[in-house]
Amino acid sequence: MRTTTEEDSPAGLADALPAGFLWGAATASYQIEGAVDADGRSPSIWDTFSHTPGRVRDGDTGDVAADHYHRYRTDVALMGGLGLGAYRFSVSWSRVLPEPGGRANARGLAFYERLVDALLEAGVVPALTLYHWDLPQYLQDTGGWTNRDTAARFAEYADTVARTLGDRVPMWTTLNEPWCSAFLGYASGVHAPGITDPAAALTAHHHLLLAHGEGVAALRAALPSDRRISLVLNPAAVRAASDDPVDVDAARRIDGLANRIFLDPVLRGSYPADVLADTASVTDWSHIRDGDLAAISRPIDEMGVNYYTPSLVSGGAKPGDPRNDGHGVSAYSPWPACDDVRFRHTPGPRTAMDWPVDPSGLYDVIMRVRSEAPGLPLLVTENGAAYDDTIAPDGVIADPGRQAYIASHLAAIGRAVADGADVRGYFVWSLMDNFEWAYGYAKRFGIIHVDFATGRRTLKDSAHWYASVIAAHRGRNGDGEPQGA
Ligand code: FCB
Repeated sequence: MRTTTEEDSPAGLADALPAGFLWGAATASYQIEGAVDADGRSPSIWDTFSHTPGRVRDGDTGDVAADHYHRYRTDVALMGGLGLGAYRFSVSWSRVLPEPGGRANARGLAFYERLVDALLEAGVVPALTLYHWDLPQYLQDTGGWTNRDTAARFAEYADTVARTLGDRVPMWTTLNEPWCSAFLGYASGVHAPGITDPAAALTAHHHLLLAHGEGVAALRAALPSDRRISLVLNPAAVRAASDDPVDVDAARRIDGLANRIFLDPVLRGSYPADVLADTASVTDWSHIRDGDLAAISRPIDEMGVNYYTPSLVSGGAKPGDPRNDGHGVSAYSPWPACDDVRFRHTPGPRTAMDWPVDPSGLYDVIMRVRSEAPGLPLLVTENGAAYDDTIAPDGVIADPGRQAYIASHLAAIGRAVADGADVRGYFVWSLMDNFEWAYGYAKRFGIIHVDFATGRRTLKDSAHWYASVIAAHRGRNGDGEPQGA
């Protein structure tokens, strides 16, 4: 484990980050809310998936999760106590529009109104994500993201939420990590809806981007003009394992599928020619229609970057070699036309996810996005670590690994800022322990511990430490109050 240095003491970290920097924490609806039958909510693809035997570790489901739906007031009070400046959460589409073609469900929307009002009262800026992977099941029943119509349905959903919460929420994100929705959902099948068809994954990828673009238009039309609209990506820090041309080409292809098929269409309105050629055996990309790329590249106000670990890749693997890409185990690759590619661990410490700890990857992805999108403000919308936490008899949860992880990544952001990056905020993943997708409750990412049997919340040491960084930053910048968007 890395020891704390001057640079990543609370004061040192605070000094490296600009005035007005937004200190946040993030969650997602299906991972924390529970209350899956409450107030007219209908099932999402994650309800279906988690209730399918063998899909999620130990048969865990999000039925109760952290019961945030009922405990949101406690959670907002904890956020206020930590001094958080912002809270990134997602809205459950199937609470808002529970039926095909149906009207907005006022009771579902009312939950988010209560949450947002409580946040504002506590001085915490709400940062709302419309889609963090929990598609209504009724839309999956008509093809999910392989059906182009789902993008139009997303725009309607964006409009509905914007009309209800636009007066109170300053920060709006269309999609969280569409790479995962498309490639873990439709190629490797380790996420809902559990499909293993690389052609479907590439179709889903395009329709997700189309949904983003149509969503931006819907949000612009419905929101007050000072609202900030973003997309959250998980750009990979892709590195070739060696100078061998086989490894260098593997890195080019993974970079194409992880980064360039998102950044190019969103920032420049084009798809990278090499990726179209690499995947020609999988799809002819005929799902792209005239006008789509213009819609996808509609201007956004900021970009969210989620980062956990770098990707060290090599080519030339044989069938049966473990893929080891950190995205769960499946016989099917989430990387279309990359069956020969394998991922390697960098030396050094790893988290409970077995993900190497390497903050230089966060520096690299920030500088990469900055060079591709000059002038576009960035936010680190997720970063954090799972460890096997234990509660001492006195109730203390010492999690020095998580604290060191967050400190070292904040220091990396400081270096990126010093080198000219416009990073406006940081959201630790996660505010609280939650349903970690196919890993169920086995992996704890929270800075707040959740006892899933009782719902009880306990601040881990990392939460106390994070509060001290926030306080140090606020003290140095003379900000009496959390900075808004
Ligand atoms: C990200 C997801 C988030 C959480 C973290 C660990 O890919 O956006 O929901 O699962 O990974």
